[in-house]
Amino acid sequence: MYTRNFRILILAVVSVFLMQSFAQNNWNVPADKKAKNSYIKFDAASARQGEAIYNKNCASCHGNPGKGNSLKSLKPIPPDLSSKGTQALTDGELSYILITGRMIMPSFKNVLSEEDRWKVISYIRSFNKNYVQLLSKFDPNKAKLVKVSMSYDPKTKQVKVDVKANEKSGVVSLKNTEIALFVSRYFGKLQIEKNQITNTDGQAVFNFPKDLPGDKTGTVELVVKLNDENYGEIESATKLKIAVPTEKPGLTDDRAIWNVLAKAPFWIIILYSAGVLAFIAVLLYLVMTLNKIRKSGAKK
Ligand code: HEC
Repeated sequence: MYTRNFRILILAVVSVFLMQSFAQNNWNVPADKKAKNSYIKFDAASARQGEAIYNKNCASCHGNPGKGNSLKSLKPIPPDLSSKGTQALTDGELSYILITGRMIMPSFKNVLSEEDRWKVISYIRSFNKNYVQLLSKFDPNKAKLVKVSMSYDPKTKQVKVDVKANEKSGVVSLKNTEIALFVSRYFGKLQIEKNQITNTDGQAVFNFPKDLPGDKTGTVELVVKLNDENYGEIESATKLKIAVPTEKPGLTDDRAIWNVLAKAPFWIIILYSAGVLAFIAVLLYLVMTLNKIRKSGAKK
């Protein structure tokens, strides 16, 4: 009796350990995402383009596939992506991992376009001789049918985004689609609220911050990003005059060292002119002295 309980206990402890080690490699990818395939054909050209993207974005942590030179100081250690474990993942799972990330593994959702993500996966697959691609029938050209319009309601201070596709059969609203709204800044983009899901009319509404500064006229560039199952990745920008106008002096408005000659600071102009004048004076002095020496030589 005693030994039986003990055995059950051991079994329980071992299975908890096993489950944990499985959880390490288990990304819990939803079934529909797991079955997703690339619409880009994986060939030598796509792998070569993917390699460049990989070297720029992934190699610092994952090292070069098959070389065992990933960054060992990280925990968990970034896996070698040519390994059996990674290659056992579906293309959909790899794509999902790139989109969501996990702890140290960053999300590339807003860093790489879907096309670039598939190219990186093409590169990863080039290390697997047994890999056979299942190509998606998705047509990336369908994105061109989509029209994003944005409007602003000053009463409610809301931006309404409307997403429609002009199919041959008529206009289709993109409903139940997750969309993100950004404002373009000098460096990168500022997201407005969280992502929203479009309603049955293909519309979503965002609250626009009251105190957001725009340019001199209060104009901001709004960028909508979405990834629709049928139409793919869409990014659309619109300029609207809805922000707070700001009178910010431009970098080249005032006299400054980095400006053009006409707008250089006075002290630089004076210093420079003085330098040139001094140089000419020294030259003149030299010529005169040489002349004197020549004359005194000629007298003898
Ligand atoms: C900052 C370091 C870092 C960068 C940059 C990075 N990764 Fe990762 N990656 C990790 C870590 C750490 C893990 C393990 C995460 C875990 O298991 O929770 C990981 C896991 C993965 C996995 C899952 C592998 C498996 O077998 O479970 C894939 C696939 C992956 N990364 C691909 C990429 C790609 C492609 C890029 C570049 C576009 C990239 N990673 C950039 C650190 C990084």
